[in-house]
Amino acid sequence: MDRNLALEFVRVTEAAAIEAAKWVGRGEKKKADGAAVAAMRKRFNQVDFKGTVVIGEGEKDEAPMLYNGEKVGTGKGPEMDLAIDPLECTDSVAFGRYNAISVIAAGKKGSLLHAPDTYMEKIAVGKKAKDSIDLNSPVESNLKRIAKALNKKISDLTVMVLDRERHVKLIEEIRKAGSRVRLITDGDVSAAIATCFSDSGVDVYMGIGGSTEGVLASVALKIMGGEILCRFKPKKDSDIEKIKAAGVKDLNKVFTSEDMAKGKELSFTATGVIDGPLLNGVVFGKDKIITHSIVTRGISGTIRYITTYHHYYK
Ligand code: FBP
Repeated sequence: MDRNLALEFVRVTEAAAIEAAKWVGRGEKKKADGAAVAAMRKRFNQVDFKGTVVIGEGEKDEAPMLYNGEKVGTGKGPEMDLAIDPLECTDSVAFGRYNAISVIAAGKKGSLLHAPDTYMEKIAVGKKAKDSIDLNSPVESNLKRIAKALNKKISDLTVMVLDRERHVKLIEEIRKAGSRVRLITDGDVSAAIATCFSDSGVDVYMGIGGSTEGVLASVALKIMGGEILCRFKPKKDSDIEKIKAAGVKDLNKVFTSEDMAKGKELSFTATGVIDGPLLNGVVFGKDKIITHSIVTRGISGTIRYITTYHHYYK
């Protein structure tokens, strides 16, 4: 993964984040998403590479999107797979809530899981607990093993979960096991990645969320040494057809981060739109716009935080 390319992608997520942030609190999720998509597409096409979107968000919500299979970049340079979400947490932007980011995960051609945008069951943890999770075992067994790996009491674990009707039973089981639950309205990419930072206060992420978000998080967790396990959870029959058409024969297969993001030539780039556990959001000043981003590369494992002051943003 070219070093400069990973840094070029920050310009792309910065532009998408700024355009999305202009819509914060205006009750217009499609317009926010559309603005982020247009900015991301435009900026991608100024970067020297041959990118193919292999999984992009938007399909399951019938929202604006960079479509799967779309080619981006100038067409000169390395061939790359892309998993993208120009605006992760459209509702958070529409209602001025929490935890929205613009995000790109990139890998050498053939390295990222090609799949439709549907749902997946997921469990994610940071490095110390990476060998203690199993999507086929009960919630309590997972939490016991994670607590042991982190040298914590099970009652000291915090599990982040999306606040959804479908998670009522999961939440009950986590509480019964004795752990704390932190509910979020949206944003399971950040929630999964937060498990890799011991000071985030998040030990585990569990629940059903978007498949694009699963692949995006897998790239970051792989680079940071954590683990995320995912299994498709199609909502409709047409999802099953699309998953199979993407080459997934066994719908019960549990994907590891290595299955979703192969090798080391990977990069993960995100810019905050609204403050969340991973990044602060866009700040509109009188004569400047400030953005906060993270860039990490698989080959070096370096994590860079970039604060950018945009003085002449157009
Ligand atoms: P959007 O970008 O579509 O707003 O996604 C936000 C999100 O909360 C994701 O983080 C999560 O994976 C997904 O939605 C869950 O889907 P749903 O909102 O349909 O439960």
